[in-house]
Amino acid sequence: MQVLSVSSEIYPLIKTGGLADVVGALPGALVPLGIKTRNLVPGYPAVLKVTKTVETLHHYKNFFGGTARILATATNGLDLFVLDAPHLYDRTGNPYVNADGKDWPDNAERFAALSRAGADLGKAIVPGFVPDIVHVHDWQAGLVPAYMHYDGGLRPACVATVHNLAFQGQFPSSLLPTLKLPLESFGVDGVEYYGTIGFLKSALQFADRITTVSPTYALEIMQPDGGMGLDGLLRQRRSVVSGILNGIDTEVWNPANDIHLVAHYDDKHLAKRTNNKKALQERMGLPIDAERPLFGVVSRLSWQKGLDLLADALPLLSGVGQLALLGAGDAALEEKYATAKSPNIACEFRYDEALAHLIQAGADILLVPSRFEPCGLTQLCALRYGAVPLVARVGGLADTIIDANMAALAAGTATGIQFWPVNEMMIEAAIHRAIRLYHDKSAWARLQRNGMRSDVSWHHSAQAYAALYREVLKLPA
Ligand code: ADP
Ligand code: GLC
Repeated sequence: MQVLSVSSEIYPLIKTGGLADVVGALPGALVPLGIKTRNLVPGYPAVLKVTKTVETLHHYKNFFGGTARILATATNGLDLFVLDAPHLYDRTGNPYVNADGKDWPDNAERFAALSRAGADLGKAIVPGFVPDIVHVHDWQAGLVPAYMHYDGGLRPACVATVHNLAFQGQFPSSLLPTLKLPLESFGVDGVEYYGTIGFLKSALQFADRITTVSPTYALEIMQPDGGMGLDGLLRQRRSVVSGILNGIDTEVWNPANDIHLVAHYDDKHLAKRTNNKKALQERMGLPIDAERPLFGVVSRLSWQKGLDLLADALPLLSGVGQLALLGAGDAALEEKYATAKSPNIACEFRYDEALAHLIQAGADILLVPSRFEPCGLTQLCALRYGAVPLVARVGGLADTIIDANMAALAAGTATGIQFWPVNEMMIEAAIHRAIRLYHDKSAWARLQRNGMRSDVSWHHSAQAYAALYREVLKLPA
């Protein structure tokens, strides 16, 4: 089976969040199941830099305002199509925003172009490449199913995955001709969304199957509270909506041989973690103290992640433990953390892969107090690294962590701590609960070991995607 995956990010070439991790890891996990994937991504400088041997497969003369090419290349175990369109993608910095944090003014054209190229590849524009499935991720690839629909004729099956419903890609209706969408497409059964052109809405309208990245988030987005304006359409299409949990790349995230750690360990040699805790305290300028509980955060700084609420709990955290936070994003939130003056609070505001690994290996507890979380990957990394996740009971966090309540502790199945509803009071109560458990050394070690033994790999999820692909193609299970 041949799949064409279309996305705006892919690890390790270009990443702003978990989308890149997922799109980069899933192809490898599908190989043993007989599924080949080729990923179409935009030709950002970071992508073109590493794609050394390229073959030009297709030329576009006037493609959304300039010339463009579809290139083929392979790197890091990935089989790639790259849409090389310098007028759209040859810009330094973030894929979506300029240096001032403002959306690139031509984002509609930039990601319509990605979608148009995805639809063309889906319809076999390149000789010898005929995908059975086109799998589109998030709003940036959202117009692929719409283009294929309005082109007419035969087309491959189409799966759309929602990684985050908060980002929908809405643009003025006046762009309809620029985006090469027919007039007839501007209706409630087409690309129209509250008077605008909705990229994600279009994907949900025209895809044969809709997935999101956890079963609980799939339910949440069909409710008015979590549906962000799209719950009605999702409810209407509920028979094709499902949730498949993300995994993590267990080679990239392996405490037994991770180059970013000072001490390697596994579930049978947990004591060695102490060396990583010490290294993390040193690295972040925290007092060296093996006994004091060390809380970690690795996150985008945004309202979604609930870190404004956690900031209000800093006096408690600095009184009972320590905090090592690594995050970038919202400037006001950075400011809130930067002004917290306590020797027990250390924050670094940037993207730093090496430090992210050390925090997972050195922190005792990893905090994820998200208001909503489609899946979340950092709690999965924490499980694998023996940092006990303390999470909000929402979305994928609810599905991946087993709360250390009396029953789960007695049954020996607990892997972390959950709280709900998401507010400062409940976060503080959960922190108190974590500290009490932390001081019960054997209960704590059991929590860590349970986490480290949970399967956070892509194994089961890849099987679920494979089953979905077979089902949509009407192949035997
Ligand atoms: P989201 O995609 O919503 O940001 P996820 O938990 O799904 O959240 O994925 C976040 C990914 O980005 C993880 O791989 C995490 O380790 C990484 N990450 C987030 N913030 C940082 C940072 N400041 N430095 C390094 N890695 C980060
Ligand atoms: C999004 C979500 C996150 C999810 C990731 C990968 O960025 O916010 O919860 O893990 O996509 O699917």
